[in-house]
Amino acid sequence: MAVRRQPRAAEALRLSSRSAGLKPTAVNSILAEVRALQAQGASPGTSIVSLMRGEPDFRTPAHICDAAVRALANGRTSYPDNRGEPVLREAVAQKLARDNQLSYDPGSEILVTTGATLGVYAALTTLLSDGDEVLLPDPIYDAYQSAIVLAGGRSVPVRSSIENGRFVVTKEALEAAATTSSRVLLLNSPWNPTGTVFLESELHEIADFVIRRNLILISDEIYEAIVYDGHRHVSLATLSDEMRKRTVLVNSLSKTYAMTGWRVGYCAGPAPLIQAMFLVLQQSSRGPATFIQDAAACALTESQECVREMRRGYADRRTTVMAALSNVPRARVLLPEGGFFAMVDVRETGRTSDEVRLRLLHEHGVVVMHGAAYGQGGEGTIRVSFASGGQNLQNGLERLREGLARL
Ligand SMILES: Cc1ncc(COP(=O)(O)O)c(C=O)c1O
Repeated sequence: MAVRRQPRAAEALRLSSRSAGLKPTAVNSILAEVRALQAQGASPGTSIVSLMRGEPDFRTPAHICDAAVRALANGRTSYPDNRGEPVLREAVAQKLARDNQLSYDPGSEILVTTGATLGVYAALTTLLSDGDEVLLPDPIYDAYQSAIVLAGGRSVPVRSSIENGRFVVTKEALEAAATTSSRVLLLNSPWNPTGTVFLESELHEIADFVIRRNLILISDEIYEAIVYDGHRHVSLATLSDEMRKRTVLVNSLSKTYAMTGWRVGYCAGPAPLIQAMFLVLQQSSRGPATFIQDAAACALTESQECVREMRRGYADRRTTVMAALSNVPRARVLLPEGGFFAMVDVRETGRTSDEVRLRLLHEHGVVVMHGAAYGQGGEGTIRVSFASGGQNLQNGLERLREGLARL
């Protein structure tokens, strides 16, 4: 008599090949590591100071919170329009015209998403077929990688280099990375983690490349409002009609308005692409809550003084970071042109970026990101966040300065 095999749950629970290839974001991995360390009570001194996350410590401006409360009181709690509430799509169109000199039709060319995260994901899923390649500057915000895998694509790094104290990507590097399978170039400017804001001349070279190679550009503009010293964010879609036809602009309110927890963002692009992204998106999301969308519309259309104020705050912190980290032997801090991260070049220490990170964490109780978490091109650097200021920044910088000096 045949022996009946017991069903094995482990087998039934096997993961799909796509989800098995996913990785936690670098920030999530390091957060878990830090929590484990704290649970063991293994930190030096009393606490660990974090200069790691891109989490603004500013409160969401009061008039935006008030708008959400008003919307709640007015019963704005039912399903939102899945494309985004008309009032928010209209506000996004106004904002794009005001700040970016871009004209998009709120009826057909704008899609509201649950943060830039879902915007990037919807764009990738809509555009990629199995094996299509996505070109990404290296180093870059690591969370793009798994989204590309999930969409069936393959990420291809574009080599960058540090020239005159800033990370750059040359047209030669772009060409060297391109193949006949290249489909998308994914960029963010201001560029996380490097702090570079692409110059208009660089953007023209990038645009020429995109057109020559017949690519689509996904342009993540989430740090656009945080720029310094006369650096100006320019949307690639403004460069020519041809670029507008090839660009999916992705943005969110997370950083500009200190609204990371509200989970609201948007995309703009050519109508057929936005329509297809809408179809993709509605398989997994009904969009941000209706009352949140009302508050987001208020953020985008009312006074932008709060944005200017936060920008001044980040600029002061940047000055503090530069002052604290200049003159540290074998470490060279790069002046960020935008965003709230400073890269510190530690190649002269002869250690890998992860070794430096671990020494700083275990011996000095300060958390930073190792550049290699953002790709091989980030090796030899560490990323220091000044999204949080005040005493946290002061304490963190003191520890960092001391830790780097002792390497
Ligand atoms: C470049 C970049 N894009 C997107 C995101 C995520 O944005 P959101 O909060 O809008 O999902 C981040 C967050 O750190 C980021 O740095």
